[in-house]
Amino acid sequence: MNIVEEIRALCREKNAIIMAHYYQRPEIQDIADFVGDSLALAQQAAKTDADIIVMCGVHFMAETAKILCPDKKVLIPAPEAGCSLADSCKATDLAAWKAAHPDHMVVSYVNTSAAVKALTDVVVTSSNALKIVKQLPEDKPILFGPDQNLGGYINRMTGRQMDLWNGGCHVHARFSEEALLQLKAQYPNAKVLAHPECKQSILQHADVIGSTQALLDYAKKSVQSLPLQGESEGASFIIATESGILHEMQKACPEVHFIPVPAEGGGCNECEYMRMCTLQNLRECLFHENNEVIVDEDVARDAIRPIQRMLEMS
Ligand code: 13P
Ligand code: SF4
Repeated sequence: MNIVEEIRALCREKNAIIMAHYYQRPEIQDIADFVGDSLALAQQAAKTDADIIVMCGVHFMAETAKILCPDKKVLIPAPEAGCSLADSCKATDLAAWKAAHPDHMVVSYVNTSAAVKALTDVVVTSSNALKIVKQLPEDKPILFGPDQNLGGYINRMTGRQMDLWNGGCHVHARFSEEALLQLKAQYPNAKVLAHPECKQSILQHADVIGSTQALLDYAKKSVQSLPLQGESEGASFIIATESGILHEMQKACPEVHFIPVPAEGGGCNECEYMRMCTLQNLRECLFHENNEVIVDEDVARDAIRPIQRMLEMS
């Protein structure tokens, strides 16, 4: 058996499901039972009847799955896969911010630790943040964290003035506006699709702003709506998010040209944490059932409420 067959056989034997984020390596996306954005991964975890969930993503995604499925075994092939955005807000700092604003409600991005979620009123992802904030009482002041770019985008779209935590994702912070403008000049008909974790200097040039799932859906829909067969061949999209998404975009629309925006200085636009999961550590983790994600019971009890609230409001 090759490694892919071995992993699939282990999944059958153990009634395990492999879930992967769109930023994972192509071979991990291809072997997964389910590939999605952070909202879809949480929704899928909440409804799976598998005994084991193997989360090919970063740590907060596995933690969210564990909080939603306390009776299931949740494994993460690369337990050291953190997230610079989640790390930008410690629970003790959020507690102090909250204490200084006792009349505010707390809205936290899903890219946070379980301990931060436990201090939160409602969790959001990039898929539903706008929709959920619009549903919150207009007269209620809000503390939003940790992603300042997503928070700023929601403030601009809703006219609200949420107080923003000064956090961000190091991958989305480093896209180059200069390179984006050059690509736009080179491909004047290309639509720019951007993730709301990008800086405003990037978002201001975007035709579409959305989660990884929303960007993928937009690309698929616009290609399907091209009137003549063959017309999609010339279609191009400029993509401002982690470049792992290009794998699924290219699979869904093989004739289309997807162009990733480079990082400043021509650097890399990959998330090193997302790339830590490999076929090898996936097989090891599933075989030995190690790297199990454990969330403290008290923390999980408080963290599940804002996650469930999010799922209800999505
Ligand atoms: P999505 O909500 O699009 O999955 O993005 C979350 C993210 O930043 C993953 O790194
Ligand atoms: Fe975190 Fe950014 Fe990596 Fe997403 S791309 S997991 S937000 S560091």
